[in-house]
Amino acid sequence: TFVVTENCIKCKYTDCVEVCPVDCFHEGPNFLVIDPEECIDCTLCEPECPAEAIFAEDDLPADQAQFKQINAELTKIWPVITEKKDMAPDAKEWDGKPGKLAQLER
Ligand code: SF4
Ligand code: F3S
Repeated sequence: TFVVTENCIKCKYTDCVEVCPVDCFHEGPNFLVIDPEECIDCTLCEPECPAEAIFAEDDLPADQAQFKQINAELTKIWPVITEKKDMAPDAKEWDGKPGKLAQLER
């Protein structure tokens, strides 16, 4: 499965949702997650993310390992998103900032 990681937080560009053939992205206030039970490993979303926040589970950087669980958990409570919307207004400022997990709104 593929996993959305920390750099999506407060950026939420949403380019990823347009290419997913099985609509497995779910949207929260400032972050998206992938439903691990729906993802078919098509790989299409990974290159679409301007924040480079999407990784195959097997390629997750060590410091992003906890996002596997975060995606699995939040996908159960957040609605599906299938259409691109405007990115966060200050997305560019947050892109690449460390420690954004503390900013995650559930
Ligand atoms: Fe969707 Fe494919 Fe990305 Fe999985 S790898 S979330 S199926 S676009
Ligand atoms: Fe997030 Fe990248 Fe999608 S920033 S919303 S994973 S395009």
